[in-house]
Amino acid sequence: MKGIILAGGTGSRLWPLTKTVCKQLLPIYDKPLVYYPLSVLMLAGIREILMVTTPRDLEPFRSLFKDGAHLGLNISYEVQAEPQGIPQAFIIGEKFINQQPVCLILGDNIFYGEGFPAYLKNITALETGACLFGYYVKDPERYGVAELDSQGKVISIEEKPKQPKSHYAITGLYFYDKQVVDIAKDLKPSKRGELEISDVNTYYLNKNQLQLEILGRGLAWLDTGTHSSMQEASRFVEVIESRQGLKIACIEEIAYRMKYISLEQYIKLIEDYPQSEYRIYLEDILHREFKQVVSR
Ligand code: DAU
Repeated sequence: MKGIILAGGTGSRLWPLTKTVCKQLLPIYDKPLVYYPLSVLMLAGIREILMVTTPRDLEPFRSLFKDGAHLGLNISYEVQAEPQGIPQAFIIGEKFINQQPVCLILGDNIFYGEGFPAYLKNITALETGACLFGYYVKDPERYGVAELDSQGKVISIEEKPKQPKSHYAITGLYFYDKQVVDIAKDLKPSKRGELEISDVNTYYLNKNQLQLEILGRGLAWLDTGTHSSMQEASRFVEVIESRQGLKIACIEEIAYRMKYISLEQYIKLIEDYPQSEYRIYLEDILHREFKQVVSR
């Protein structure tokens, strides 16, 4: 399965932080925000990845990830000239998708929890229909919201409803079959002038091809929509990392653990990094976890 990370948008809600740097490159504790969604794709076993970003941010992304080969990935880039809605990613990515199933993750979504990667791996086998994730939140009106019947089946999906029909927000991680490109092309802009991902999801729902997986409360889906929620996400990452001495979304570690790169490639990567806490961590887990000694 292929993966798209949508990392465009205006970032207006976080202005002036986003005046010169896009939101997805801002820090969440010790690494750029986009590392978190990238790590989700990597852990799901997705290695062919398209990053969609703004004309301004293309070069920063390219210099951050290059072609992804050092991580055992194949990363390519496309520009979204204007933020005309999330489903535009499928129109822009049509060639990349190449009539195959695709996973889209929003570049500002953070997921963390035991068992999540294994769970995702099953879903990457999806051939028909769509699979979404629902998460119980206290403020569903800020999201796409799923209405469920007594059996937990989805009845409707609404984008940012004033009166939400449930507390289940739809997260920014979506799995679709190859129909999604044509569905996106047929969409009409909503009242707020954007193509809506909730309209794509409603299309699948009406065809009875929509699966909603509810993420349990033991799993964290973190918000990064405001200054304070970004700070909270940073604190969350800091608390877990300092307690365990293990990093969340360390893409080099994931690349090695997933066997996307060899031990030699991992060591070579570290040697190219500047002296930093991040490098020390990568060396440290080499000793602690991968049982190799390198001289500092
Ligand atoms: O995070 C989950 C929510 O994401 C879903 O529940 C909603 O259904 C979905 O519409 C979306 O809501 P947001 O309010 O978060 O959408 P926003 O416009 O902020 O866009 C989400 C991210 O996608 C953001 O980082 C910017 C990026 N984006 C957005 C648009 C509309 C683009 O790169 N291009 C775009 O055209």
